Amino acid sequence: MPKVLFLPHKIILPQGGEFNANKGETILEIALKNNIKLEHACEQSCACSTCHCIIRKGFLSLSGWSEKEDDILDKAWGLEPESRLSCQAIIGNDDIEVEIPLYTVNYARDS
Ligand code: FES
Repeated sequence: MPKVLFLPHKIILPQGGEFNANKGETILEIALKNNIKLEHACEQSCACSTCHCIIRKGFLSLSGWSEKEDDILDKAWGLEPESRLSCQAIIGNDDIEVEIPLYTVNYARDS
């Protein structure tokens, strides 16, 4: 059973946390079922960038990404080469480490 390690985030998860995952779940699903309040403004429909996360370990074990995800990620704050939308990145066989960016761009909240 793969594990997902969320690195500490000073507001959302100050201590960080490691959780069991089932292959086929998304990173966002793992976060929400463990009460990590990761933003997800479009309710997981790949239309916002609020669920952006950076994969520090295990990037290549995740599912592939679509052109649409790529387009949405371009709007994310703090984009890095190993960024993913947590609602689109499906867990494979390997453990992963996830960094939750300090900020999000949430057009619904910020307008
Ligand atoms: Fe909007 Fe993931 S929740 S793209």
